[in-house]
Amino acid sequence: MTSTDQQSFLSVRDLKVHFSTEDGIVKAVDGLSFDVAKGKTLGIVGESGSGKSVTNLTILGLHDRARTAIDGEILLDGKELLTASERELERLRGNKMAMIFQDALASLSPYHTIGKQIGETYRKHTGASKKEARARAVEMLKRVGIPQPDVRVDDYPHQFSGGMRQRAMIAMALVCDPELLIADEPTTALDVTVQAQIMDLLKDLQQEFGTAIVFITHDLGVIADIADDVLVMYGGRCVERGTKKEVLRSPQHPYTLGLMNSMPSLDGPVDVPLSPIPGSPPSLLNPPSGCRFHPRCTFAEKVAGGFCSTEQPALEVVAGRGSACHLTPDQRREFFADFAVARHN
Ligand SMILES: Nc1ncnc2c1ncn2[C@@H]1O[C@H](COP(=O)(O)OP(=O)(O)O)[C@@H](O)[C@H]1O
Ligand code: SF4
Ligand SMILES: [Mg+2]
Repeated sequence: MTSTDQQSFLSVRDLKVHFSTEDGIVKAVDGLSFDVAKGKTLGIVGESGSGKSVTNLTILGLHDRARTAIDGEILLDGKELLTASERELERLRGNKMAMIFQDALASLSPYHTIGKQIGETYRKHTGASKKEARARAVEMLKRVGIPQPDVRVDDYPHQFSGGMRQRAMIAMALVCDPELLIADEPTTALDVTVQAQIMDLLKDLQQEFGTAIVFITHDLGVIADIADDVLVMYGGRCVERGTKKEVLRSPQHPYTLGLMNSMPSLDGPVDVPLSPIPGSPPSLLNPPSGCRFHPRCTFAEKVAGGFCSTEQPALEVVAGRGSACHLTPDQRREFFADFAVARHN
């Protein structure tokens, strides 16, 4: 049984997010489905431009509604978010769902102290007094590992280091005990040591609060560290999903394999050269026909009938596990065996 079989807290069904632009329609997300259970982490991985952030902003209701055509369903604890009013979304954001981003400075105001900002979020959703809110801010700063929280609570964001600002943003996101946390590349700008500390912090907080986490990253190493389940995105679609173990030990999609072979071993040096995926991610304004990965795929010619460039492979999912590729299981076993999958085991 995979963790996606457990009762779903966040359920996304056939989500499509299309932007109207001067040049045409950008199909940023084009038929995406996934589930996240309480207390579990779904890692969404893919190169830049694959539609990860658009997915996250749509869940939070922070997309530009005027220029965006959205289709599908997003259920949070049974509540449909796509038809919810601005007011309902405002209430849910911060309270039931919260977010952290790569750039803490963008979500913290430079004009107010850290404590005031964490406290205001708390007051907005709980009606607590200023004094209670301040005490809560100190408690949260302590919980995310800020030294001398009762002093630092009166600092402004610029007085914090990058890693501390990231912690403060996490404190602000978690101040109302949200049940869903969306983390969009929250450690990408940090050095490796601080990144590891922040990841440990998120894991501890998840243990403590039972938060469901959607963790968005372009880095499979981060996925290996934090995810329970993995969804691999390419060109606005899911190309592969499964438990972390399934996806990292036996990838089924050439794109996942490509990602794995383009990054260093998770367990230190292995004597296999890195091989970046040739080419670059597709334009979502004018995506390739058939399989969106076909212009970059080294296996496309192995598929009989040239279907890769004409037929879009269906994503077939059984018990949370599946991929979208025309290769047969036998072909995969044969071709993938030569690749350096071992480096990640
Ligand atoms: N508001 C918008 N209008 C038009 N295109 C957009 C908008 N936001 C994102 N896009 C496009 O959607 C695609 C997916 O973007 P994004 O979700 O940010 O990718 P990722 O987070 O995976 O790097 C990109 O091609 C991006 O240019
Ligand atoms: S469908 Fe074809 S082009 Fe797409 S990933 Fe599979 S083999 Fe490669
Ligand atoms: Mg992004």
